[in-house]
Amino acid sequence: MPIKKLIVYFVFIGVIFNCKNKPHEIVTSQIIPIPQNQETVEGQFVLNSNTGIEYDKAFNISANFLKSFIEHSSSIILKENNAIALIKDETINNDEGYKLHITPSNIEIHAKTDRGAFYAIQTIRQLLPVAFEDGSFNKEEVSIPCIKIEDEPRFKYRGMHLDVGRHMYSVAFIKKYIDALAMLKMNTFHWHLTEDQGWRIEIKKYPKLQEIAAYRDETLVGHYSDQPHQFDGKKYGGFYTQNEIKDIVAYANTRNITIIPEIEMPGHSQAAIAAYPELGCTGEQVEVAKKWGVFEEVYCTKDETFQFLENVLDEVITLFPSEYIHIGGDEAPKTHWKTCKDCQQRIKEEGLKDEHELQNYFITRIEKYLNSKGRQIIGWDEILEGGLAPNATVMSWRGINGAVEAAKQRHNVVMTPTSHCYFDYYQSENDNEPLAIGGYLPLEKVYNFNPIPEELSTEESKFVLGAQGNIWTEYMPTQEQVEYMAFPRMLAMSEVVWSNPEQKNYSDFVNRVEHFNKRLDALGINYANHLYEVEGKLISDENLSYQLNTLTQGKQIRYTIDGSEPNNKSNVYVKPIKINMSMIIKAAVFNKDEKLGSNFSETINLHKAVGKKISINKEPHKAYSGSGAKGLINGVSGSDSRYGDKEWLGFWGDDIEITIDLGETKEISSIETRFHNGQGQWIYAPKEIKIEFDDETETLHIPDTKDVLVNISLDKNISTRFIKLKIPNYGIIPEGKQGSGNNAWTFIDEIIIN
Ligand code: ACM
Ligand code: ZN
Repeated sequence: MPIKKLIVYFVFIGVIFNCKNKPHEIVTSQIIPIPQNQETVEGQFVLNSNTGIEYDKAFNISANFLKSFIEHSSSIILKENNAIALIKDETINNDEGYKLHITPSNIEIHAKTDRGAFYAIQTIRQLLPVAFEDGSFNKEEVSIPCIKIEDEPRFKYRGMHLDVGRHMYSVAFIKKYIDALAMLKMNTFHWHLTEDQGWRIEIKKYPKLQEIAAYRDETLVGHYSDQPHQFDGKKYGGFYTQNEIKDIVAYANTRNITIIPEIEMPGHSQAAIAAYPELGCTGEQVEVAKKWGVFEEVYCTKDETFQFLENVLDEVITLFPSEYIHIGGDEAPKTHWKTCKDCQQRIKEEGLKDEHELQNYFITRIEKYLNSKGRQIIGWDEILEGGLAPNATVMSWRGINGAVEAAKQRHNVVMTPTSHCYFDYYQSENDNEPLAIGGYLPLEKVYNFNPIPEELSTEESKFVLGAQGNIWTEYMPTQEQVEYMAFPRMLAMSEVVWSNPEQKNYSDFVNRVEHFNKRLDALGINYANHLYEVEGKLISDENLSYQLNTLTQGKQIRYTIDGSEPNNKSNVYVKPIKINMSMIIKAAVFNKDEKLGSNFSETINLHKAVGKKISINKEPHKAYSGSGAKGLINGVSGSDSRYGDKEWLGFWGDDIEITIDLGETKEISSIETRFHNGQGQWIYAPKEIKIEFDDETETLHIPDTKDVLVNISLDKNISTRFIKLKIPNYGIIPEGKQGSGNNAWTFIDEIIIN
């Protein structure tokens, strides 16, 4: 009988009775990532010390994982019989797919490969009580709900990245991270091993990489934009020995995780140049970087550098069996190349047009070397500069343009756009979040990510191998902080890359996350919990009203409109709140009398433009379209610290013109708005704006500033019907800044007219 496309949830958590009429802990099927097809079947399988496992020899990894998972965490010892059978099945299409059938008498797993069987085991794992995760299961037997699942991944590249250059973490933590990936059916760990601030992989041929490049004298405290810079005065660093790396690679193999090592070139290599100054263009002694950012110390293109890199890569490929070697390629300023006689000589000899083609020469030469060793390169999307190396795979991070360009050239791509995949960004609007690099990437936005760009045809989209969440660790000195930033967004990413879009539903996902959090607790994983927050939305039908919402089920929202803090006596929210004057709405989520999560507060400002007509000559960027143009005059301002919320609009490189039509000529006295100026995220306030009224124009010059918010206001008593704001883009980001050479973003908030 074919399995119906049916999503079934075991929503009753509690105690039910098995066939022997004995109470058992019931387990809920709230699997993350959600399987492609699942159907509940009545009954349960009782697992105890009579249960055995029988498996095809090809399924060693999976069988061993299940045995040790059960035996390490309970007193149950699996025998050898076919109660749990792992069956090799060539009829399963996808190498990583599986069928799982749990009946009262047995558990049958069908898979073509050990990898598929492994994912069936991870599914079973999530059907077991969380006590199995921390070894606290102390009963003789456990009931597993009967279920029939047919499952396979949507994408074949399902990854998480971790930067150990800015901060590094213990071998035990790297294994814990790998374990989490495997639990979520991810298959790739992109290990970012070299940076300006530290070289983290032992290379035996070059001992100074260990002695010098692995350590920085001290570390920047706070943000780059906090001037003057402060340092902690503490030497920081270390590296992973080749033995440790071998151990980690072997461990990852038992979790079906491929580790892709990244050795950055030609940029982000200041630490290596600090150890061996001759690798740079100037030969001058530099230090291992103590600040974050983009540095001008890049590898010189003379032959000696390539000799060094080939020797390094020889050791790297001995340690890492992955097909792919990540060679970085991002953020390599060309400043030194422009004045270096070796680099200019190279340009001449090779008949190159400029330094961008020199970057292509660099990457292509390394590609040729790695191809000769049977490996392929993957690099950040700057490797498209000056032409793409013939066999390269592109990791698209500066938006999706790199992916579109590469896929159209029939190159494989992996999607990691900052807008949806940078887990170093803030995940909540709360001001009490731990310090992060900036940005705003809430769980829902990750969840709703579609790795296939709309610009690609069906044929071209086949070049999209999958997607990856990135963890850059400038602001993550501890493993607890890495976990806080990774979870729960990694859960969302796992569903992005594994599950079918038709299967996905955010509010259902959130309820599964709430359940999954108990598993994370048992695993000792420090996750962020923003599930109990209130979200608000202004509704402008005929009358204005304000809607409150919270994500998890069975909770209440209580609210106030008099500025007081909500408590367990405040009004319970049942329907949208009428807005007939400016007001402050405060709210929080309650479970009976207990307040969960943090307070929500929204100021509604009924100014003269609210609900009037507005148009913009350019569409906001798809990744930052907020509530659209009308969100700029909806009476609600964006967050002070998170530009990617529902109120801010983002434009990338465009000059914009915003026209507000008040419907009739009105007396106005002031116009205010504000721009985000988060330069670390490539966002710049404009240098000037023009404001046109019906009969007059004003030009406002905006001084250069490092302030993250730039307020603009014009006091002017004038009669006008139309108000037009002409906002030219800041332009190209200057040398020495994050993202230099790229277009700046413009982010604008509410336009307040009084
Ligand atoms: C990157 O974030 N520089 C790839
Ligand atoms: Zn040079």
